[in-house]
Amino acid sequence: MSQQQQRPRILSGMRPTGKLHLGNYMGALRNWVRLQNEPHGAEAKYDGYFFIADYHALTTDYADPSQLAQNTLDVALDWIAAGLDPVKSTLFVQSHVAQHAELHLLFSMMTPLGWLERVPSYKEQQENLTGKDLNTYGFLGYPLLQAADILLYRPHFVPVGADQVAHVELTREVARRFNHLYGEVFPEPEVLLTPSPKLPGTDGRKMSKSYGNTILLSEPEAELRAKLKTMVTDPARIRRSDPGNPEVCPVGDLHKVFSSQDTIFKVWEGCTTAAIGCIECKGWLADAVNAEIAPIRERRAELAAQPPQLVREILDAGAVHANRLASHTLATAQRACGLLPRADDTDLEASAEALRSEKTS
Ligand code: TRP
Ligand code: SF4
Repeated sequence: MSQQQQRPRILSGMRPTGKLHLGNYMGALRNWVRLQNEPHGAEAKYDGYFFIADYHALTTDYADPSQLAQNTLDVALDWIAAGLDPVKSTLFVQSHVAQHAELHLLFSMMTPLGWLERVPSYKEQQENLTGKDLNTYGFLGYPLLQAADILLYRPHFVPVGADQVAHVELTREVARRFNHLYGEVFPEPEVLLTPSPKLPGTDGRKMSKSYGNTILLSEPEAELRAKLKTMVTDPARIRRSDPGNPEVCPVGDLHKVFSSQDTIFKVWEGCTTAAIGCIECKGWLADAVNAEIAPIRERRAELAAQPPQLVREILDAGAVHANRLASHTLATAQRACGLLPRADDTDLEASAEALRSEKTS
């Protein structure tokens, strides 16, 4: 029992971009499911918190929030279909746990502007996402909101891809500054780097919703095969009789990720000697991708056939559970900052105790 309380916590989040694609899956979700299921003796090794960062979506898409709620539900469906288990992990929506916003506000008081201005994604995104006015207060605060997301749960590890490392580094700086000013409240979390294989989309560029080159995690088999059929290949392989090089072919990149060693061997042999055609090669790839996603697609269809209330209730329960830890951390931080506690504030020790018994019941 006491072991259960001591399990290292892991926390990560994902923006609600709508139905997830293979890049989202291989770059994050699949790893979260693995971590969730990693055993330690008879128990799970980690206590996992995973949330949908809907406020973060608003930092860039505030002008058109029409899809936000549906996208949030779509991500939740994909998560559960892919194996995130609401019994084992805490799954919730960021905006359902108000303490994210409150801790962000508190951090905003002590975070120098320069720290936020020099986060690499800030200028990059402002330049890349033309058509969106990102000269906003909220967008500058994106990584600080992320710091609040993380520190609220005082996790040991934050499983993220390489693109998020700078944000976790800022989180650690914010924790250090807070602790220096007000006393030790926040342990510094560590990155648990998700290995992210090269995953090109159908046009050969990095798979991304904004490029319109994705293959969905829930892609029906016929569409999966059709999309792969149109995928770009080694440009030097013009005629069927020309040998190709899978090392410079996006289809080859996907084989490396999804296919068995046997198939990879056949592709490398057959392509470089022109013994196989690209159509055949893509058919093998479709088989391999389909084998990976078919069970997820089926579970998703089963879930989608349930009353929509089901997923909402799972997320509500997750928010209630997350709130216990979050409210404890926030109250501790508020007191450290000298704010007057409400007279009827529950005693911190009592809430910490409640948290412990919740975890073991
Ligand atoms: N910025 C992350 C992304 O774009 C999403 C995110 C928000 C996150 N808050 C987080 C990830 C906290 C890890 C921890 O993928
Ligand atoms: Fe690419 Fe396969 Fe065609 Fe070779 S055979 S060029 S690896 S699609």
